[in-house]
Amino acid sequence: MFEKITVVGAGNVGATAAQRVAEKSLARTVLMVDVAEGIPQGKALDQWQSGPIEGYDTRVVGANDYALAAGSELFIVTAGIARKPGMSRDDLVKTNAGIVKSVGAEIKQAAPNAIVIVVSNPLDVMCYVMRQATGFPRERVFGMAGVLDTARFRMFLSEATNVSVEDIQAMVLGGHGDTMVPLVSCTTVSGIPITQFLDQATLDKIVDRARNGGAEIVAHLKTGSAYYAPSAAAVQMAEAIVLDKKRVLPCSAWLQGEFGLKDVYCGVPCLLGRGGLERIIDIPLSADERAALHKSAEAVRAVQAIV
Ligand code: LAC
Repeated sequence: MFEKITVVGAGNVGATAAQRVAEKSLARTVLMVDVAEGIPQGKALDQWQSGPIEGYDTRVVGANDYALAAGSELFIVTAGIARKPGMSRDDLVKTNAGIVKSVGAEIKQAAPNAIVIVVSNPLDVMCYVMRQATGFPRERVFGMAGVLDTARFRMFLSEATNVSVEDIQAMVLGGHGDTMVPLVSCTTVSGIPITQFLDQATLDKIVDRARNGGAEIVAHLKTGSAYYAPSAAAVQMAEAIVLDKKRVLPCSAWLQGEFGLKDVYCGVPCLLGRGGLERIIDIPLSADERAALHKSAEAVRAVQAIV
């Protein structure tokens, strides 16, 4: 268990992430920080009062500044505006870059040894902004997207095959956008290639739906974007770190030659443990998959250039 995990942003993603951290007893204290007066305090108190019912001792505390964030071992950064229907994640870049930059400066000040999981969009570029603002090494600044994109892909595959989600293994790489790369070659049902279960046309449809999984939910909600699965994904990464599980999860990582890519944040398989991003698992890809990953990384690089 960590002493303190700080969740930045008390909106839907942040508040749900804080609740999941508390319910999993990953930290003695969960601090929620948000600029909106009263919101983090109110939501935190409400969550803390769920402890006697749910059976956790985690103290959930809310604040409008970072005074209490000192000594946090881990930050989950969800601050920023969300998409409206018709917007791409990249449309958020200017507003959210300013927010993430100021959050990064606060984190550097309050907890210079912390690990930071970035959740704000456009995800890969916000990781870049966070790394610039904190100056932390890549082991301690990485992003949540691949776990979410992979969960969507696995859920659709589970529905189509009528097999438990627990037995669907998959990996979605690339940037968190329309160019993300679901690796069909690495997709199995308990080790059996997915192509034994589904024909190519069905697989193509599922790949497409996973790519647009976020937009599908924005279109339904109209005033915001997904938050149950995004918060679950971020907290799965936090759990791997807190429990030093050495899990292999797709995360947005600062690449330094892996997969033939350099100086760009992009989703790749990463080993997560107490040290944060302990290793990038650089695997050979088919020519098509490699080309798709490079195309996705170039799309990130284009937006990265704006900030
Ligand atoms: C999504 C947003 C959170 O994919 O990026 O739902």
